[in-house]
Amino acid sequence: AKVHHHTWDIAYHRKSLDCFEKLAVTVNGEAPGPTIRATQGDTVVVTVRNKLETENTGIHWHGIRQRGSPWADGTVGVTQCPILPGETFTYRFVVDRPGTYLYHAHYGMQRVAGLDGMLVVSVPDGVIEPFAYDEEHTVLLMDWWHKSVYEQAVGLASDPLEFVGEPQSLLINGRGMFVNSSIPPADCALPPALFTAVPGRTYRLRVGSLTSLSSLNFEIEGHSMTVVEADGHYVRPVVVRSLFIYSGETYSVLVTADQDPSRNYWAASHVVGRKRETPSAMSVLSYAGNDPRAPPPTPRPAGPAWDDAAPRVEQSRSVAVAHPDHALPVPPRPDRTLLLLNANTRIDGHVRWAINGVSLRFPATPYLVSMNRGLRAAYDQRPPADAYDHRSYDVGSAAAAAAAGGTVASAAYRLALGSVVDVVLQNAVALNNRSETHPWHLHGHDFWVLGYGEGRFEPGRDEAGFNLRDPVMKNTVALHPMGWTAVRFVADNPGVWLFHCHIEAHVYMGMGVVFEEGVHKVGRLPSSIMGCGRSRGLN
Ligand code: C2O
Ligand code: CU
Repeated sequence: AKVHHHTWDIAYHRKSLDCFEKLAVTVNGEAPGPTIRATQGDTVVVTVRNKLETENTGIHWHGIRQRGSPWADGTVGVTQCPILPGETFTYRFVVDRPGTYLYHAHYGMQRVAGLDGMLVVSVPDGVIEPFAYDEEHTVLLMDWWHKSVYEQAVGLASDPLEFVGEPQSLLINGRGMFVNSSIPPADCALPPALFTAVPGRTYRLRVGSLTSLSSLNFEIEGHSMTVVEADGHYVRPVVVRSLFIYSGETYSVLVTADQDPSRNYWAASHVVGRKRETPSAMSVLSYAGNDPRAPPPTPRPAGPAWDDAAPRVEQSRSVAVAHPDHALPVPPRPDRTLLLLNANTRIDGHVRWAINGVSLRFPATPYLVSMNRGLRAAYDQRPPADAYDHRSYDVGSAAAAAAAGGTVASAAYRLALGSVVDVVLQNAVALNNRSETHPWHLHGHDFWVLGYGEGRFEPGRDEAGFNLRDPVMKNTVALHPMGWTAVRFVADNPGVWLFHCHIEAHVYMGMGVVFEEGVHKVGRLPSSIMGCGRSRGLN
């Protein structure tokens, strides 16, 4: 196994990703950052030098379970202190499974400013994957604001709340077009082709979404896609015309160049789930021999109806099935079930998200340190409730949300090491009388996706319908509007792990929970994660 060393300078640079120049947080001058490539079993070492001058940072390796290295998860407030301006911090971890993963800033809402990228782990030589292709390419999808992170965060903490609003553009591999700008169109040309296809060949596209807000639909005009991998796990192949993808998810899709090779085709990313005020991002799939910048002769695809959730739920269900040769057996029953209500409510005059009445605020001392060292004063001792009162709470009522209330706290669930945990996420209408999609991401584990349902989850009745036969494992899952989503995982990774909505504004408003398991079994913590709050002076 190899060791891959990277040295990254994290700094603000002026970037014009969508023809509008603004300050972006960059990795060695690039936003998004470079794709990290490794082979299963390799070690990745990233030395991060914070050159932001006035801002802290921390980088999370999204989808990497960090078995035996919980201090390298990069979650500021949970697994480490922030990396201060001028400081250097080294992440070292093993990539133990092949698949398509991501990385991004995990300090406040810093991801919004562009610090993100992809992490691709290949199978070792000689290992055959359950599908074949000629070549692979990465496709990173993002949304992009012209407002700074600060402006966005201040608005969210204000009374009345000033929401971040819709993004100005969508980006495909860091390129987009802000079409309403005063910039002359010549300066804002169509980005170079996504890739150039040779007729008859099959391409593996590793598609990842690191949007801050938007749910997306990605399509390549005239070409169907076969979904073969989700979050690092092989799925039973499903052919789709276009791919719905939520922030924090990755998919591999196979695309065969089987169309008229004398022209190019649009590759497009569209907003779904929220009223579409952002123009879709356009790139092209070029066929060899054509000018790779030649716009396709057809109108730009319009994308699916933004407000039709049915095909999205349907696709979530159809891709949640493991490849028959790669299904991992599911423990037959849980030791503990958490029924988590996603409530949008007011707490102390501020609009927040609360999970079973607790709106998460990260403590000044990272949980990993305080829990490992028994610093009980460093976080709220009373854990949140395992279930909300599902019999009396009306998930369809905005008045219920308004009345729900709750507390802002740094509480955490303590899970028995090795126990089987079911989590049922319950959606509801928000204060604005709508219910939206929340992509939930779990650090440190993969979970089996047991089911998606509509309306209020009824224990007993709905558990009977769980897929325990061949569910796929993932690390990020969509909670659809007015629905519920059920997952199961084994709490067998000693450490402290965040589970949260991957919408930056939502986690900033408290939409997450913390799981501790076997924190005393964690070996000696590196002193580099300490230094803040009550961990000052520890080593
Ligand atoms: Cu990609 Cu905690 O997130
Ligand atoms: Cu959310």
